[in-house]
Amino acid sequence: MTTRVKKICCLGAGYVGGPTCAVIAYKCPHIQVTIVDLSETRIAAWNSDKLPIYEPGLDEVVFACRGKNLFFSTEAERAVIEADLIFVSVNTPTKKAGMGAGYAADLAYVESATRQIAEVAKSSKIVVEKSTVPCRTAESMRTILEANSRDDIRFDILSNPEFLAEGTAINDLLHPDRVLIGGLQTPEGQRAQQALAEIYAQWVPTDRIITTNLWSSELSKLAANALLAQRISSINALSAICEATGADIDEVAYACGRDSRIGPKFLKASVGFGGSCFQKDILNLVYLSEQLNLPEVAAYWKQVVDLNEYQKKRFVSRIIKTLFNTITNKRIAVLGFAFKKDTGDTRESAAITLCKDFIQENAQVRIYDPKVSDEQIFFDLSEPGVVNSTIALKKRVTIAGSAYEASDKADAIVIATEWDEFKELNFEKIYEKMNKPAFIFDGRLILDAERLESIGFRVHTIGRAN
Ligand code: NAD
Ligand code: UGA
Repeated sequence: MTTRVKKICCLGAGYVGGPTCAVIAYKCPHIQVTIVDLSETRIAAWNSDKLPIYEPGLDEVVFACRGKNLFFSTEAERAVIEADLIFVSVNTPTKKAGMGAGYAADLAYVESATRQIAEVAKSSKIVVEKSTVPCRTAESMRTILEANSRDDIRFDILSNPEFLAEGTAINDLLHPDRVLIGGLQTPEGQRAQQALAEIYAQWVPTDRIITTNLWSSELSKLAANALLAQRISSINALSAICEATGADIDEVAYACGRDSRIGPKFLKASVGFGGSCFQKDILNLVYLSEQLNLPEVAAYWKQVVDLNEYQKKRFVSRIIKTLFNTITNKRIAVLGFAFKKDTGDTRESAAITLCKDFIQENAQVRIYDPKVSDEQIFFDLSEPGVVNSTIALKKRVTIAGSAYEASDKADAIVIATEWDEFKELNFEKIYEKMNKPAFIFDGRLILDAERLESIGFRVHTIGRAN
């Protein structure tokens, strides 16, 4: 008989654990969901009016069930003891030191969460890997759980990777293309898969709930991110050819995307992909390939990340060249700092690389983003370990309260994030107050270049020749 899950615990109240388990609580009023985190400030924010994450639709979901069947807590022990099913949704950053540094995933948080479950559990549990992990991590989790727990307790491990994208997380969770559940192909493993599938079936059509073996599920997550990022690097590589030939990258993407075998999505050229996962997960795949003695495979995927770095550098050098080969003391307005629109997340944002390069060239950088806090921007631009780095930084970087303020007396505007509000700006007003010639560098292909040129701007767009 299938286990009916009545209580869920989620370890990790981040960008994935928070929204994912909030949606489960929202759609399954009969299940009690407790999301726990080590960070007291994060939990306090989840329990306040201002949630720690900006995500369209998240407030409505959380406020509808918080205090009823959705709880945020730092009391991990109690939540683990009570739960039938536990999501492990902790961070898995790229390792900074030791073996595999710069490539391999740091599994320390996954391991410590697993040990915590083993130590306190008093009854059998389904443990679900929600974090993105290297292939065969579930095996290590099972070994740790079995070696550290009581004989009368059984743990079934599932892999249930998350495919949500930030900025559209709630919609992605409510209407997923698919839900993937990997499990051991034993009667017990399949029963656990069924128990988790029943939860999702409360709102996801059953033909979208896929079950596979554990290792396929783990690898599919890395593979999906690698394939998505590869499309961006492919279109960005073509954008360089466009700039050199007079072809237009939006027209090329449209023409290619109309082929139903290629499809139109994820072919938007840009200053480079950012976000906490694409680079991390590809490097993880590169490391895995090297460990498996597959150097050609590793080199193939590594190129996706290398091309992304090249794209950012190419954009910076185009800006410097166009501004008469020097940006020293020139005022550059950077519009957008988040890694994409509709999120306040700046992890691996292309804007960080651009701003650091502008600072290196002694420019005066004025940044505006509608959702990223001033503290976050200074944190991202500070060099780790450099004393007084923020004081030095504040001589070069100022934060503006609007796009108009940022571009006042600027020599150039750089569009780094595709926020919708940038399309609606009064560019006549902006042009009047800028130094002349007034340049705009559109790193997101969101502006109407012809109209801006008619105002007087000199416009440079990724993937278009000038
Ligand atoms: P995050 O850093 O926002 O959140 C992780 C949280 O886990 C942190 O708040 C941390 O304090 C907490 N934590 C660490 N160890 C803990 C423990 N033992 N007990 C309780 N809490 C603990 O990370 P995230 O963006 O939510 O990503 C989590 C995982 O999901 C990663 O593996 C990531 O690759 C994957 N993922 C992320 C996204 C995304 O859009 N951000 C999408 C899909 C998958
Ligand atoms: C991505 C995946 O889309 C999710 O499926 C996955 O769950 C998630 O990573 C993860 O594992 O963390 P996310 O990084 O939140 O989601 O956002 P995306 O919409 O994928 O955008 C990533 C970056 O690529 C952004 O900087 C975006 O601006 C850029 N991008 C995206 C382009 O430059 N061009 C495109 O056509 C699409």
